[in-house]
Amino acid sequence: MFYELPTPATSAAQSLVSCIKERRSVRNYSEAAISLAALSQVLWAIQGKTGEGSERATPSAGGLYPLHIHVLVRRVSELKHGVYEYEWNTHSLKLLDDKSPEGNLTGVGIGEQPWLEESAVVIALGANFDGPVKYFESQLPRGERGVRYVFMESGAAAQNAHLQATALGLGFVLVAGFDDAKAKNAFQFAPGFEPTALFCIGQRDD
Ligand SMILES: Cc1cc2nc3c(=O)[nH]c(=O)nc-3n(C[C@H](O)[C@H](O)[C@H](O)COP(=O)(O)O)c2cc1C
Repeated sequence: MFYELPTPATSAAQSLVSCIKERRSVRNYSEAAISLAALSQVLWAIQGKTGEGSERATPSAGGLYPLHIHVLVRRVSELKHGVYEYEWNTHSLKLLDDKSPEGNLTGVGIGEQPWLEESAVVIALGANFDGPVKYFESQLPRGERGVRYVFMESGAAAQNAHLQATALGLGFVLVAGFDDAKAKNAFQFAPGFEPTALFCIGQRDD
């Protein structure tokens, strides 16, 4: 089942400079839901369509766009809990699993990272590295350059998402310390895909 997302805003009163200055990793969240419009805006900032063709909100080495976005929803107004996949070209969410995600991320973080279980939403980026590795295999170090580029893209997407969340007044933390196999399973990535970054998002509790 597909859920159309609200149209993202493409202008805002808050300046980019103030978002860069105010950005902090926020790990305490209230029980309140985030709005569907806010989730829509953050997903657009990560990988939304920004041109007539395949252009998206974050840069991509070789224009390959290997990143896939899965979303574990706990508390979003107007959206049932579950695991979804973001479809960048239609700006919609595809439901992968509507079972309660409670406890799904237990043990996924390396060390104690309760924010993985307390945030309203956790967004996971993932990629199949085979395409980028093959595309850049003529460049040294062979086999590694494509992998580096996927992680660089994940970092670019993380900063877009973090600044967008800051502009929306939401709490956000990038989590890269996670158990790969457990995260892959929890976010329902298909065989061949590996998670590269997790973003916890929620209403700030301060
Ligand atoms: C590559 C990377 C990985 C990170 N992984 C985690 C993580 O696993 N868990 C976490 O709570 N924070 C993680 N962080 C957030 C950092 O702890 C945080 O950015 C740092 O303490 C600086 O604080 P600030 O973001 O508020 O400026 C990560 C940040 C980066 C850039």
